[in-house]
Amino acid sequence: MKALILAGGFGTRLRPLSCTRPKLMFPVLNRELLDWTLERLSKSGVDRVILAVNHMADALERSFRYSRYGIEIVYSRESRPLGTGGPIKNAEGFLIEGGEPFFVLNGDVFSDVDYGKIVKFHEDRGAKATIALYEVEDPGRFGVVELSKEGRIMRFVEKPKPGEAPSRLVNAGVYVLDPSVLDIIPHGRKVSTERKVFPALAREGSLCGYRFDGLWIDIGLPEDYFLVNKMMLRSLAADEPLVGKNVKVHETAKVVAPSAVGDGSTVAEDAEVGPYAVVGRGVEVGKGSRIDGSIVFQGVIVESFASIRGAIVGEDSIVGRWAKIEEGCIVGDHALIGDNVTLTRNVEICPFREVRSSILEPGKVM
Ligand code: GTP
Repeated sequence: MKALILAGGFGTRLRPLSCTRPKLMFPVLNRELLDWTLERLSKSGVDRVILAVNHMADALERSFRYSRYGIEIVYSRESRPLGTGGPIKNAEGFLIEGGEPFFVLNGDVFSDVDYGKIVKFHEDRGAKATIALYEVEDPGRFGVVELSKEGRIMRFVEKPKPGEAPSRLVNAGVYVLDPSVLDIIPHGRKVSTERKVFPALAREGSLCGYRFDGLWIDIGLPEDYFLVNKMMLRSLAADEPLVGKNVKVHETAKVVAPSAVGDGSTVAEDAEVGPYAVVGRGVEVGKGSRIDGSIVFQGVIVESFASIRGAIVGEDSIVGRWAKIEEGCIVGDHALIGDNVTLTRNVEICPFREVRSSILEPGKVM
Protein backbone atom coordinates (compact mmCIF):
# COMPACT_ATOMS: atom_id res chain seq x y z
CA MET A 1 0.00 0.00 0.00
CA LYS A 2 1.04 3.63 -0.55
CA ALA A 3 1.21 6.52 1.88
CA LEU A 4 1.48 10.21 1.10
CA ILE A 5 3.15 12.17 3.88
CA LEU A 6 2.57 15.92 4.05
CA ALA A 7 6.02 17.28 4.67
CA GLY A 8 6.03 20.81 3.32
CA GLY A 9 4.77 23.04 6.13
CA PHE A 10 6.76 25.99 7.46
CA GLY A 11 6.37 24.94 11.09
CA THR A 12 6.15 28.58 12.16
CA ARG A 13 5.08 27.64 15.67
CA LEU A 14 8.33 25.79 16.20
CA ARG A 15 10.60 28.69 15.37
CA PRO A 16 13.50 29.29 15.85
CA LEU A 17 14.31 25.55 15.55
CA SER A 18 12.23 25.20 12.38
CA CYS A 19 14.18 28.05 10.71
CA THR A 20 16.94 25.56 10.00
CA ARG A 21 15.17 22.19 9.72
CA PRO A 22 11.84 20.84 8.50
CA LYS A 23 9.49 19.73 11.25
CA LEU A 24 9.76 16.12 10.11
CA MET A 25 13.46 16.18 10.90
CA PHE A 26 13.06 17.22 14.53
CA PRO A 27 14.76 14.55 16.64
CA VAL A 28 12.67 12.42 18.96
CA LEU A 29 15.01 10.50 21.24
CA ASN A 30 17.78 11.19 18.74
CA ARG A 31 15.93 9.84 15.67
CA GLU A 32 14.14 12.10 13.22
CA LEU A 33 10.36 12.19 13.57
CA LEU A 34 10.04 10.93 9.98
CA ASP A 35 12.30 7.96 10.73
CA TRP A 36 9.87 6.78 13.44
CA THR A 37 6.94 7.20 11.07
CA LEU A 38 8.63 5.26 8.25
CA GLU A 39 9.52 2.43 10.60
CA ARG A 40 5.91 2.12 11.75
CA LEU A 41 4.56 2.29 8.19
CA SER A 42 6.93 -0.43 7.03
CA LYS A 43 5.67 -2.70 9.82
CA SER A 44 2.12 -2.15 8.51
CA GLY A 45 3.03 -3.26 5.01
CA VAL A 46 3.41 0.15 3.35
CA ASP A 47 5.96 -0.26 0.58
CA ARG A 48 5.90 3.17 -1.12
CA VAL A 49 5.91 6.61 0.50
CA ILE A 50 5.33 9.82 -1.39
CA LEU A 51 6.80 12.75 0.49
CA ALA A 52 4.87 15.90 -0.46
CA VAL A 53 7.60 18.49 -0.09
CA ASN A 54 7.97 22.19 -0.59
CA HIS A 55 9.74 24.20 2.12
CA MET A 56 13.25 22.71 2.81
CA ALA A 57 12.65 19.84 0.38
CA ASP A 58 16.38 19.38 -0.25
CA ALA A 59 17.18 18.78 3.42
CA LEU A 60 14.64 15.95 3.48
CA GLU A 61 15.84 14.43 0.24
CA ARG A 62 19.52 14.59 1.28
CA SER A 63 18.78 12.89 4.54
CA PHE A 64 16.20 10.25 3.58
CA ARG A 65 17.22 9.58 -0.02
CA TYR A 66 15.10 6.98 -1.83
CA SER A 67 14.53 4.10 0.53
CA ARG A 68 14.36 3.28 4.24
CA TYR A 69 13.07 0.24 6.16
CA GLY A 70 12.39 -1.39 2.79
CA ILE A 71 10.03 1.42 1.74
CA GLU A 72 10.60 3.15 -1.58
CA ILE A 73 10.55 6.94 -1.09
CA VAL A 74 9.56 9.31 -3.89
CA TYR A 75 9.32 13.10 -3.72
CA SER A 76 6.37 15.11 -4.97
CA ARG A 77 7.55 18.72 -5.18
CA GLU A 78 5.41 21.84 -5.15
CA SER A 79 6.49 25.08 -6.74
CA ARG A 80 4.50 26.94 -4.07
CA PRO A 81 2.72 25.88 -0.87
CA LEU A 82 -0.50 24.01 -1.65
CA GLY A 83 -1.80 23.59 1.91
CA THR A 84 -2.94 20.19 3.17
CA GLY A 85 -5.16 19.22 0.19
CA GLY A 86 -3.33 20.62 -2.86
CA PRO A 87 -0.31 18.33 -2.31
CA ILE A 88 -2.60 15.27 -2.55
CA LYS A 89 -3.86 16.40 -5.96
CA ASN A 90 -0.32 17.32 -7.00
CA ALA A 91 0.78 13.72 -6.32
CA GLU A 92 -2.22 12.24 -8.20
CA GLY A 93 0.05 10.47 -10.73
CA PHE A 94 1.67 8.45 -7.93
CA LEU A 95 -1.56 7.83 -6.04
CA ILE A 96 -3.97 6.56 -8.69
CA GLU A 97 -1.68 3.75 -9.83
CA GLY A 98 -3.36 0.44 -8.92
CA GLY A 99 -6.65 2.13 -8.01
CA GLU A 100 -6.39 1.16 -4.32
CA PRO A 101 -7.01 3.33 -1.28
CA PHE A 102 -3.94 5.07 0.14
CA PHE A 103 -2.90 6.70 3.40
CA VAL A 104 -2.40 10.41 3.88
CA LEU A 105 -0.44 11.42 6.97
CA ASN A 106 0.34 14.77 8.50
CA GLY A 107 4.06 14.41 8.87
CA ASP A 108 4.21 16.18 12.20
CA VAL A 109 2.16 13.56 14.06
CA PHE A 110 3.79 11.05 16.37
CA SER A 111 1.45 8.15 16.95
CA ASP A 112 1.27 4.40 17.41
CA VAL A 113 -2.10 4.07 15.63
CA ASP A 114 -2.55 0.68 13.98
CA TYR A 115 -2.62 1.52 10.26
CA GLY A 116 -3.88 -1.96 9.32
CA LYS A 117 -6.98 -1.53 11.49
CA ILE A 118 -7.90 1.79 9.86
CA VAL A 119 -7.78 0.24 6.39
CA LYS A 120 -9.94 -2.69 7.51
CA PHE A 121 -12.46 -0.30 9.07
CA HIS A 122 -12.47 1.81 5.90
CA GLU A 123 -13.13 -1.20 3.67
CA ASP A 124 -15.81 -2.66 5.97
CA ARG A 125 -17.73 0.64 5.93
CA GLY A 126 -17.32 1.20 2.20
CA ALA A 127 -16.25 4.78 2.94
CA LYS A 128 -14.61 7.17 0.49
CA ALA A 129 -12.46 8.54 3.28
CA THR A 130 -11.71 7.44 6.85
CA ILE A 131 -10.09 9.68 9.42
CA ALA A 132 -8.31 8.34 12.51
CA LEU A 133 -9.86 10.07 15.53
CA TYR A 134 -8.33 10.70 18.92
CA GLU A 135 -10.00 12.03 22.06
CA VAL A 136 -8.34 15.12 23.58
CA GLU A 137 -9.10 17.37 26.55
CA ASP A 138 -9.12 20.62 24.61
CA PRO A 139 -10.28 20.17 21.01
CA GLY A 140 -10.17 23.90 20.06
CA ARG A 141 -6.86 23.65 18.14
CA PHE A 142 -8.01 20.73 15.99
CA GLY A 143 -10.62 19.50 13.52
CA VAL A 144 -13.47 18.11 15.61
CA VAL A 145 -16.14 15.62 14.49
CA GLU A 146 -19.64 14.54 15.32
CA LEU A 147 -19.66 10.78 14.97
CA SER A 148 -22.65 8.44 14.54
CA LYS A 149 -22.82 5.08 16.34
CA GLU A 150 -21.91 3.32 13.07
CA GLY A 151 -18.75 5.42 12.73
CA ARG A 152 -20.00 7.90 10.07
CA ILE A 153 -18.83 11.47 10.50
CA MET A 154 -21.94 13.66 10.49
CA ARG A 155 -20.14 16.96 10.83
CA PHE A 156 -16.56 18.17 10.63
CA VAL A 157 -15.69 21.47 12.30
CA GLU A 158 -12.15 22.82 11.96
CA LYS A 159 -10.81 24.65 15.06
CA PRO A 160 -14.18 25.27 16.76
CA LYS A 161 -14.67 28.29 19.02
CA PRO A 162 -15.10 27.60 22.75
CA GLY A 163 -18.44 25.85 23.38
CA GLU A 164 -18.94 25.01 19.69
CA ALA A 165 -17.07 21.70 19.49
CA PRO A 166 -19.48 18.83 18.71
CA SER A 167 -17.27 16.37 20.69
CA ARG A 168 -13.73 15.90 21.94
CA LEU A 169 -12.85 13.57 19.07
CA VAL A 170 -10.30 15.22 16.81
CA ASN A 171 -8.74 14.57 13.45
CA ALA A 172 -5.49 12.76 14.23
CA GLY A 173 -3.91 13.63 10.87
CA VAL A 174 -3.97 10.05 9.56
CA TYR A 175 -6.45 9.21 6.77
CA VAL A 176 -7.29 6.52 4.29
CA LEU A 177 -8.62 7.95 1.03
CA ASP A 178 -10.12 6.28 -2.01
CA PRO A 179 -8.69 7.52 -5.32
CA SER A 180 -12.15 9.00 -6.12
CA VAL A 181 -11.50 11.70 -3.50
CA LEU A 182 -8.87 13.13 -5.88
CA ASP A 183 -11.73 14.18 -8.19
CA ILE A 184 -13.03 16.74 -5.69
CA ILE A 185 -9.69 18.44 -5.04
CA PRO A 186 -8.93 21.27 -7.48
CA HIS A 187 -5.58 21.19 -9.28
CA GLY A 188 -2.73 23.68 -8.83
CA ARG A 189 -4.32 25.60 -5.96
CA LYS A 190 -3.86 25.85 -2.23
CA VAL A 191 -6.60 23.69 -0.70
CA SER A 192 -7.37 22.81 2.90
CA THR A 193 -8.47 19.20 3.29
CA GLU A 194 -9.92 20.09 6.69
CA ARG A 195 -11.99 23.07 5.52
CA LYS A 196 -13.01 21.95 2.02
CA VAL A 197 -12.65 18.23 1.39
CA PHE A 198 -13.78 16.68 4.68
CA PRO A 199 -16.88 18.87 5.16
CA ALA A 200 -17.98 18.03 1.58
CA LEU A 201 -17.50 14.29 2.14
CA ALA A 202 -19.30 14.49 5.51
CA ARG A 203 -22.31 16.16 3.80
CA GLU A 204 -22.59 13.32 1.28
CA GLY A 205 -22.27 10.67 4.05
CA SER A 206 -19.08 9.08 2.76
CA LEU A 207 -16.70 10.12 5.53
CA CYS A 208 -16.01 7.69 8.39
CA GLY A 209 -14.11 8.02 11.62
CA TYR A 210 -11.97 5.36 13.25
CA ARG A 211 -11.42 5.95 16.99
CA PHE A 212 -8.20 4.82 18.57
CA ASP A 213 -6.45 5.12 21.93
CA GLY A 214 -2.76 4.95 22.62
CA LEU A 215 -0.04 7.35 21.77
CA TRP A 216 -0.78 10.45 19.72
CA ILE A 217 0.85 13.86 19.70
CA ASP A 218 0.95 16.51 17.02
CA ILE A 219 4.29 18.27 17.53
CA GLY A 220 3.06 21.66 16.32
CA LEU A 221 4.16 23.56 19.45
CA PRO A 222 7.37 23.44 21.51
CA GLU A 223 5.50 22.05 24.54
CA ASP A 224 4.16 19.18 22.42
CA TYR A 225 7.64 18.51 21.11
CA PHE A 226 8.89 18.32 24.69
CA LEU A 227 6.01 16.06 25.61
CA VAL A 228 6.69 13.54 22.86
CA ASN A 229 10.31 13.21 23.97
CA LYS A 230 9.23 12.87 27.58
CA MET A 231 6.71 10.16 26.76
CA MET A 232 9.23 8.22 24.74
CA LEU A 233 11.80 8.51 27.54
CA ARG A 234 9.22 7.11 29.96
CA SER A 235 8.43 4.29 27.60
CA LEU A 236 11.99 3.33 26.52
CA ALA A 237 14.36 4.62 29.20
CA ALA A 238 12.40 4.64 32.46
CA ASP A 239 14.81 2.46 34.46
CA GLU A 240 18.03 2.60 32.47
CA PRO A 241 19.23 5.59 30.45
CA LEU A 242 19.37 4.95 26.72
CA VAL A 243 23.06 5.36 25.95
CA GLY A 244 24.36 5.23 22.36
CA LYS A 245 27.61 3.84 20.99
CA ASN A 246 31.01 5.22 22.01
CA VAL A 247 29.64 7.40 24.78
CA LYS A 248 32.14 8.32 27.50
CA VAL A 249 30.74 9.06 30.92
CA HIS A 250 33.36 10.00 33.52
CA GLU A 251 33.26 7.84 36.65
CA THR A 252 32.23 10.81 38.80
CA ALA A 253 29.51 11.95 36.35
CA LYS A 254 25.89 10.78 36.51
CA VAL A 255 23.32 10.01 33.83
CA VAL A 256 19.96 9.73 35.57
CA ALA A 257 17.01 7.87 33.98
CA PRO A 258 14.83 8.55 32.18
CA SER A 259 17.37 10.04 29.79
CA ALA A 260 19.04 9.41 26.46
CA VAL A 261 22.58 10.19 25.35
CA GLY A 262 23.43 9.91 21.63
CA ASP A 263 26.40 8.18 19.98
CA GLY A 264 29.86 9.60 20.53
CA SER A 265 28.93 12.02 23.32
CA THR A 266 31.04 12.68 26.38
CA VAL A 267 29.97 13.56 29.90
CA ALA A 268 32.88 14.99 31.91
CA GLU A 269 33.66 14.71 35.62
CA ASP A 270 30.99 15.70 38.13
CA ALA A 271 28.51 16.52 35.36
CA GLU A 272 24.91 15.40 35.74
CA VAL A 273 22.56 14.57 32.89
CA GLY A 274 18.88 13.84 33.58
CA PRO A 275 16.29 13.07 34.56
CA TYR A 276 14.32 13.78 31.39
CA ALA A 277 17.29 14.87 29.33
CA VAL A 278 17.79 13.97 25.69
CA VAL A 279 21.35 14.64 24.62
CA GLY A 280 22.08 14.27 20.90
CA ARG A 281 25.00 12.66 19.08
CA GLY A 282 28.50 14.03 19.57
CA VAL A 283 27.60 16.39 22.42
CA GLU A 284 30.27 17.41 24.93
CA VAL A 285 28.97 17.94 28.42
CA GLY A 286 31.66 19.78 30.38
CA LYS A 287 32.88 19.32 33.93
CA GLY A 288 30.30 20.02 36.63
CA SER A 289 27.53 20.93 34.14
CA ARG A 290 23.89 19.99 34.64
CA ILE A 291 21.28 19.18 32.02
CA ASP A 292 17.79 18.13 33.02
CA GLY A 293 14.30 18.27 31.55
CA SER A 294 15.93 19.44 28.32
CA ILE A 295 16.64 18.48 24.73
CA VAL A 296 20.14 19.18 23.49
CA PHE A 297 20.58 18.59 19.75
CA GLN A 298 23.60 16.96 18.16
CA GLY A 299 27.06 18.51 18.19
CA VAL A 300 26.43 20.95 21.05
CA ILE A 301 29.32 21.90 23.32
CA VAL A 302 28.35 22.59 26.89
CA GLU A 303 31.34 24.01 28.69
CA SER A 304 32.07 23.52 32.40
CA PHE A 305 29.63 24.35 35.19
CA ALA A 306 26.84 25.36 32.79
CA SER A 307 23.23 24.57 33.58
CA ILE A 308 20.42 23.77 31.12
CA ARG A 309 17.03 23.12 32.69
CA GLY A 310 13.74 22.72 30.85
CA ALA A 311 15.19 24.13 27.62
CA ILE A 312 16.00 23.15 24.03
CA VAL A 313 19.45 23.84 22.59
CA GLY A 314 19.81 23.59 18.80
CA GLU A 315 22.46 21.74 16.80
CA ASP A 316 26.15 22.71 17.03
CA SER A 317 25.52 25.51 19.53
CA ILE A 318 28.00 26.40 22.24
CA VAL A 319 26.97 27.03 25.82
CA GLY A 320 29.76 28.80 27.71
CA ARG A 321 31.22 28.26 31.18
CA TRP A 322 28.84 28.99 34.05
CA ALA A 323 26.09 29.86 31.56
CA LYS A 324 22.56 29.23 32.77
CA ILE A 325 19.69 28.44 30.42
CA GLU A 326 16.36 28.38 32.19
CA GLU A 327 12.98 26.81 31.62
CA GLY A 328 11.17 27.38 28.33
CA CYS A 329 14.24 28.78 26.55
CA ILE A 330 14.88 27.75 22.95
CA VAL A 331 18.32 28.31 21.50
CA GLY A 332 18.46 28.02 17.69
CA ASP A 333 21.13 26.02 15.84
CA HIS A 334 24.76 27.24 15.73
CA ALA A 335 24.21 29.88 18.42
CA LEU A 336 26.77 30.90 21.00
CA ILE A 337 25.79 31.57 24.57
CA GLY A 338 28.79 33.23 26.19
CA ASP A 339 30.47 32.51 29.52
CA ASN A 340 28.46 33.51 32.62
CA VAL A 341 25.39 34.42 30.54
CA THR A 342 21.97 33.70 32.06
CA LEU A 343 18.94 33.30 29.82
CA THR A 344 15.89 33.68 32.01
CA ARG A 345 12.68 31.73 31.39
CA ASN A 346 11.17 31.70 27.90
CA VAL A 347 13.95 33.40 25.97
CA GLU A 348 14.32 32.43 22.30
CA ILE A 349 17.59 32.87 20.46
CA CYS A 350 17.68 32.77 16.66
CA PRO A 351 20.17 30.51 14.85
CA PHE A 352 23.77 31.74 14.50
CA ARG A 353 23.37 34.47 17.17
CA GLU A 354 26.06 35.24 19.71
CA VAL A 355 24.79 36.25 23.12
CA ARG A 356 27.46 37.82 25.34
CA SER A 357 25.35 39.31 28.14
CA SER A 358 22.50 37.94 30.22
CA ILE A 359 18.89 38.27 29.11
CA LEU A 360 16.67 38.67 32.13
CA GLU A 361 13.32 39.35 30.42
CA PRO A 362 11.44 36.73 28.36
CA GLY A 363 11.53 37.49 24.63
CA LYS A 364 13.18 36.77 21.30
CA VAL A 365 16.68 37.62 20.19
CA MET A 366 16.55 37.89 16.41
P1 GTP B 1 2.69 25.93 11.45
O1 GTP B 1 3.27 26.96 10.52
O2 GTP B 1 3.38 25.94 12.79
O3 GTP B 1 1.21 25.97 11.54
O4 GTP B 1 3.06 24.48 10.87
P2 GTP B 1 2.77 23.83 9.42
O5 GTP B 1 3.12 24.78 8.35
O6 GTP B 1 3.53 22.54 9.42
O7 GTP B 1 1.22 23.60 9.38
P3 GTP B 1 0.33 22.42 9.95
O8 GTP B 1 0.85 22.02 11.29
O9 GTP B 1 -1.08 22.81 9.86
O10 GTP B 1 0.59 21.28 8.86
C1 GTP B 1 0.06 19.99 8.96
C2 GTP B 1 0.89 19.10 8.06
O11 GTP B 1 0.75 19.52 6.70
C3 GTP B 1 2.38 19.12 8.37
O12 GTP B 1 2.88 17.81 8.20
C4 GTP B 1 2.95 20.05 7.34
O13 GTP B 1 4.30 19.72 6.99
C5 GTP B 1 2.03 19.84 6.16
N1 GTP B 1 1.85 21.02 5.31
C6 GTP B 1 1.33 22.23 5.69
N2 GTP B 1 1.30 23.06 4.63
C7 GTP B 1 1.81 22.37 3.57
C8 GTP B 1 2.04 22.69 2.17
O14 GTP B 1 1.76 23.78 1.69
N3 GTP B 1 2.57 21.70 1.39
C9 GTP B 1 2.89 20.47 1.89
N4 GTP B 1 3.41 19.57 1.06
N5 GTP B 1 2.70 20.12 3.18
C10 GTP B 1 2.16 21.07 4.01
